[in-house]
Amino acid sequence: MSSRQPIAVFDSGLGGLTVLHALRECLPREDYFYFADTRFLPYGDKPEVFLRERGVAIAEALARQGAKAMVIACNTATAAAAEAIRAATPLPVVALEPGVKPAAQQTRSGVVGVLATTRTLQSARFQRLVGNHASHVRVITQACPGLADTIEAQGPGSNAVETLLDDYVAPLAHGGADVVVLGCTHYPWVAEGIARRMPAGTVLLDTGAAVARQTERLLAAAGLLGGGEGRLSVATSGAPQQVTATVARLLGRKMHVEHWEP
Ligand code: DGL
Repeated sequence: MSSRQPIAVFDSGLGGLTVLHALRECLPREDYFYFADTRFLPYGDKPEVFLRERGVAIAEALARQGAKAMVIACNTATAAAAEAIRAATPLPVVALEPGVKPAAQQTRSGVVGVLATTRTLQSARFQRLVGNHASHVRVITQACPGLADTIEAQGPGSNAVETLLDDYVAPLAHGGADVVVLGCTHYPWVAEGIARRMPAGTVLLDTGAAVARQTERLLAAAGLLGGGEGRLSVATSGAPQQVTATVARLLGRKMHVEHWEP
């Protein structure tokens, strides 16, 4: 393994671009391979066993293709598959989970809201996270079926997304949450719409920056830090032209996207 090899970042779709952004800010001298598994988007309502098998297949393919580390930029894949992925690959693996711990530390009202996929909220890993770090506060969880895929299909500012946000954010606002955990990497794309539906001063937490710092620590410990030139390649298991269009809508620029099947 050499420090010149790229870091692989993967998500069900383009939510992980919010994590990739934090990674590139923190570690600009790395090359990145971003994989969007859009053929199977959304992950949020897939069975756990499917996500585990898919996650392991992706990890094995990334190792074969020469990644030096793997960032699971998806809360749902982490919840279902992080342990299986770690067991299956020799690569250093960075996983992310909803920021329940910092939220429980920062709340003043004693009420924390968590927006995430159904699969994440139902996972044993999430239940443990709440039990270990947030048992002293009230945690309002809200599953958001349809939100990640609608953000991709219709854009963050679309009417369909606005309607979903009306439904999903209201229970948190009515319940008195003063901290909202963005427990899915797609949701930073709609942070403004979430903030608009919450009282002024509500804190929104996402985990991109923490993931970037953890990646830096892990690479440093493995002697694999640096060595790249800031290159980025993007691949999808779905239709590249569709992902190119979604990237253009989300980032405002065109990007070459390749087809890649693990
Ligand atoms: N972006 C993903 C997450 O962080 C999953 C969204 C989905 O595919 O349902 O959970």
